[in-house]
Amino acid sequence: MARLRKAAKVWRRPEAQRAAGSVLVQPGGDVFTIDAGAIFASRAPLEVELGAGKGDFIVARAAEFPDRNFLAVELSAIVSRMLAVRCGNADLPNLRVVRMDGRTLVNLMLAPESVSAYHIYFPDPWPKERHHKHRLFTPHFVASLTRTLVEGGALYVATDVAEYAREIFAMLDASELVASSEPVPGQLSTGFGRKFAASGKTVYARAYRKTVVK
Ligand SMILES: C[S@@+](CC[C@H](N)C(=O)[O-])C[C@H]1O[C@@H](n2cnc3c(N)ncnc32)[C@H](O)[C@@H]1O
Repeated sequence: MARLRKAAKVWRRPEAQRAAGSVLVQPGGDVFTIDAGAIFASRAPLEVELGAGKGDFIVARAAEFPDRNFLAVELSAIVSRMLAVRCGNADLPNLRVVRMDGRTLVNLMLAPESVSAYHIYFPDPWPKERHHKHRLFTPHFVASLTRTLVEGGALYVATDVAEYAREIFAMLDASELVASSEPVPGQLSTGFGRKFAASGKTVYARAYRKTVVK
């Protein structure tokens, strides 16, 4: 409740709404498309973070890699406002925010071979079995991630929930993606990642690549 009150207080400030407005993308035009070429100042490889939370990871990464574009996707109305204020204040031409369900974006709106990397850190686990249907990862979603990745593109994923990790990795291992031994960039640097690193909680993280089979 205190967090909600704080978020509402931040949002009431005109300068916060101005900052958010400078990065928030409103999907328009054709209902089921989002044109990365139209929302960024220049064309560049696109990295997408699904469930970006408050943006700790993507703001730092967009600052570190000015030659790539970054789209932060967040479903929650309140969290996406805070995310947009933060991203807007960072004032980076290569960082934009969209409030929507990541499943809709990946399954329906992104063009084939348009994303160079996906970052999915600590997706909601929906622990009750009857709620598993709300989980982000399904074989269909994995197929959509694969279809929208460019050749050689990366998927980085981390979760603190052992059972969900097993399920996600099994789906990915059964897909056309190939496990990679490279580090997972957001594993320790998202809001949740930092919290888990500080408390010593086990985190299950993997990288996958879309390789070209010739
Ligand atoms: C557990 S939090 C992790 C946030 C951040 N990735 C981190 O590591 O700090 C999960 C986030 O995913 C968002 N989320 C849940 N389902 C989503 C969906 N279908 N599409 C986009 N975001 C989603 C939630 O609102 C929440 O902010």
